[in-house]
Amino acid sequence: MPVISNCTPNAISVAAKALKEGNLVAFPTETVYGLGADATNITAVKRIYSVKARPIGHPVIVHISSINRLDKWSEEIPKYAIKLAEDFWPGPITLILRRSKLAKNFITGGQDNVGLRVPNHRVALELLESFEKLGGIGIAAPSANKFGAVSPTTAKAVFRELSSYLDLKDLILDGGKCSVGIESTIVDCTRNFPVILRPGAITTEMIQHSSNLKVMSRLKKISIKASGLLDSHYAPLAKVIESSDVEIGEGFIAMSTIDTPYGAIRLASPRCIQQYARDLYSAFRDADIQGITSIKIIPPDGPGLAEAIRDRIHKASSS
Ligand code: TXA
Ligand code: MG
Repeated sequence: MPVISNCTPNAISVAAKALKEGNLVAFPTETVYGLGADATNITAVKRIYSVKARPIGHPVIVHISSINRLDKWSEEIPKYAIKLAEDFWPGPITLILRRSKLAKNFITGGQDNVGLRVPNHRVALELLESFEKLGGIGIAAPSANKFGAVSPTTAKAVFRELSSYLDLKDLILDGGKCSVGIESTIVDCTRNFPVILRPGAITTEMIQHSSNLKVMSRLKKISIKASGLLDSHYAPLAKVIESSDVEIGEGFIAMSTIDTPYGAIRLASPRCIQQYARDLYSAFRDADIQGITSIKIIPPDGPGLAEAIRDRIHKASSS
């Protein structure tokens, strides 16, 4: 079982060393916690799959410390993708690019594309820099949850979910609660224009503005394999239903302006869209911890981040 460590400079260098030696390190990002491994180490990356019980063949995002590392992992990068990286990194956006030779099949799921991201979190960036000083090139990290489950937004949630599958030499870095709370926007940059595969805090409008191109949303019959694109995903054990028709003992999530129906167990009352994103997954997890079996939820209205939240609620309720 791994230990949870506070993020002192010493703990971060211990974690970087653990990664370099082929162990797994769960670490905070601004979106959700990631389960990291040396992205060039096939054995370490394979362990991520077994710990998560993730079907093989799903690609993992490679986290890098800065835009300067982009051309280590990718090539033939379109100009608009460089602009997106300049405008939004470090930040909650993953770019799918033509892979370089470094990005092996065990990272890309056998595709010719690789997903890259510079996270905007002090601990993640310090870990990446420390790892690079030891000769590391990138950290492969999916969200630190079991396949299909809700992404963790605290170290405690990672511990609860994965500790019994991790080894003594693996680590969990505690960097507090994630500030964004839902996963990064994923943008396919392998065409002449950006295609959003997964909505997130970097919105369609922001991508449109930065790239000055028409942005497409995920294509229905996309050939790319992305587990976050499955309809049923990001789901708690409790059944999630989009409805305000609540029965006694059911969980309830809605904006704070909406009153709690009689007999409902209020799981979250966000005051703004950002708080909705930040609290959604911890509210789902709270429901499971409390043994609540059904959650009624009123999704937020509006464009941008609200759209990303509706996407996750839809996926959670499709199971
Ligand atoms: O915010 C995030 O993106 C978090 C933090 C830890 O960075 N990571 C995350 O990873 O959500 P994961 O693996 O749980 O979700 C990433 C999604 C998956 O659905 C994966 O299939 C897709 O991105 N993906 C990764 N590389 C890809 C690629 N080369 N082509 C298409 N999809 C890719
Ligand atoms: Mg995930």
